[in-house]
Order: sequence, then structure tokens, then C-alpha cells
Amino acid sequence: MNNVDLAIEAIHQEMGPRLFIPAHYYQDDSILRHADAAGDSLELSRLTAARREAEKIVFCGVRFMAETAAILKGPGQSVFMPDPKAGCPMADTATAEQAEACASRLSEVWKDWVPIVYVNSSAALKAFCGRRGGSACTSSNAGRVFQWALDAGKRILFMPDEHLGANTAHDLGLADDLVQVYDPKEARGGISNYLLEKTQVLNWKGFCHVHCAFRTDHVFQVRAQHPKAKIIVHPEACKEVVRLCDFHGSTTQLINYVRQAPDGSEVYIGTEHNLVRRLANEENNRLRLFPLYASSCPDMGLTTTEALLRVLQDWPAGNRVTVPEDLAADARLCLDRMLAL
Ligand code: 13P
Ligand code: SF4
Repeated sequence: MNNVDLAIEAIHQEMGPRLFIPAHYYQDDSILRHADAAGDSLELSRLTAARREAEKIVFCGVRFMAETAAILKGPGQSVFMPDPKAGCPMADTATAEQAEACASRLSEVWKDWVPIVYVNSSAALKAFCGRRGGSACTSSNAGRVFQWALDAGKRILFMPDEHLGANTAHDLGLADDLVQVYDPKEARGGISNYLLEKTQVLNWKGFCHVHCAFRTDHVFQVRAQHPKAKIIVHPEACKEVVRLCDFHGSTTQLINYVRQAPDGSEVYIGTEHNLVRRLANEENNRLRLFPLYASSCPDMGLTTTEALLRVLQDWPAGNRVTVPEDLAADARLCLDRMLAL
């Protein structure tokens, strides 16, 4: 432990349960060692919502996660980020204004439809979804949330990850021609009324550059060179890759797959590199784990121990994450719906 780690620990101990540090699994080990809880987006939303005794929540992840905590927090709690620049390029591909324009476009053809937003989205997009009776989802529960909408006889507008939307629809048995893409940069969303009429799930044209870095040729290469190896990926990867793999699942589902793999297994993992490296170290006596390709999230990497310490010492106003109450109230509707499902 260096001086920065010691200083973080001292403040952490002194504040006790008044301080809560949640960290996403994609954070570096140097951060995870200081976390009160590590998890995927769904687990961290649940845990943070339950920690009412914490006066200060320091979220080690990216902005949409800290915003989700700020929406779900109780009175007297405040949320901070070690580096407020840590965002998510995928979340930035959909603004609430663009979503409203999309809703007007859909109203030309669709009657019964509901928006579903991936938690990897802004508070304003969640508020749009909450106002329109929709639900949030994470990669852990997207299937359940899609099924909720389909059971109610609704078409789905899913934002902002085209690939999670396509993979979830496929998992639920929907044929590919029922699943189309809405491109906010194209006139009329780049889709005709004819096609829209036939569409059950309309996916926003957004993507995660970290998970779209996994390509079919990576899979073919592993299959050729290591025919006994298993290949598993996160469902933010594109459907051509996902369909070639042995398993796909959210961060926690990938971890569970690895923990349950028989001794001696060789597994290639397509998700953020910090997590793959950590699993490979933790399981190195039992399994041979490799990245399908080393792909890191630069935004997740912005959280450093130095930045964490600065927040814990000074609580700078610029690191505080707030969501205006009118937006938060609408956004809470779609997050609560997800948590209830
Ligand atoms: P999950 O934590 O829901 O698996 O999401 C992955 C991700 O990309 C977080 O940024
Ligand atoms: Fe966004 Fe992808 Fe990074 Fe997650 S891994 S924060 S989805 S860019």
C-alpha cells in the first residue's frame, strides 16, 4: 500500500457507514480494493438504493451510474464521482430531444408501444422513458423487461444500444426481420413507414466501442487455434459475434460462467479488459482464461486512487453529481419499474 492508499483507508475507516464506495467490476484493482461493494450496473443500483445510512456515496464507475445513484438516493445523501469526466460514449448517442423526435415519428405508425432504456443513458433519457410508461433495464435483466412489454402487447423502442437490443430480441425468439434500427442522424430515423409497421423491436443506433471491438475474425481465430476453448461475450457485442460464441451474458453472468467452469477449462472472454485480467488472476490455479481481444474502457480508467483521495479529502462541488428533482422524479419511475420487475 502506498501513501495514497493509506490516506484513503484512514478516511474510509473514520467515516465508517457514513461513507459508501460502490465500484463497477470494470474498475482497476487499485480502486476495487477500496470499494465497499463491487458489482455490475444492476447490483450497484440495488445496493446503492438500499444504503440509506450513507451520507456520502462516492461512485467509482461512469457518469450514468452515479446519476442513477443520485436519482435513487434518499434525503440527506449526496453522490460524488472521483472524476466527473468519466462518461459513456454510448449513453451520449441519445438525447431526450432526439427521443422526443423519435416518439413523434413513431406516432405516425405505432399505436401501442413503450420505451425501454438501458441504464447506460442520461437522466434526461430515463425521464423521457418514465413519463411514457417505460422501464429501464440493464444487460442482466433486459430479457425480463422486454418480455414484460411484449406480454402487454406493446412494441418496443429500445435506447441507446442497438446490439443489446438485437441480442435480447433474438434470445426471446423474435425473428430478425421484426427487429429494426432507428438512426437519429437520418431523416425520419432512416426507416420507412412500411418497415416500421412490420417492426416489433426498434433499436436506437448506438453502440459501445469497447464491446464492438470484438470481431468475428477474433472468434474464428480462437476456434481454429484452440478448438476445445469456450468463447463467451457481453451482449453489447454485435449479434454476428454473439451468435458464434458459446455463451453471452451480462458482467455478472460472465463471472458466474467462469466460476462454474470445470477445472482445466480454457475460456476466451469478450468484455472489458480489467475484469478479464482480474478473473484470469483469481482463477489461474484452476482455469486458463484469456481476453478474446484486449479491449479497455478509457472512461472507466479515469478513476484513479489520486482522484478518489481528492474527493474524500475536499468534497469538491465540481465532483458532486446531482439530477434536478423534476427530471429525477420522472427517471425514478422507469428505474423503480425495473427494480420491481
Ligand atoms: P453491466 O454492468 O450491466 O454488465 O454493463 C456493462 C457496461 O458496459 C457498464 O458500462
Ligand atoms: Fe460505456 Fe462501453 Fe465503457 Fe460501459 S464499457 S461505460 S457501455 S463505453
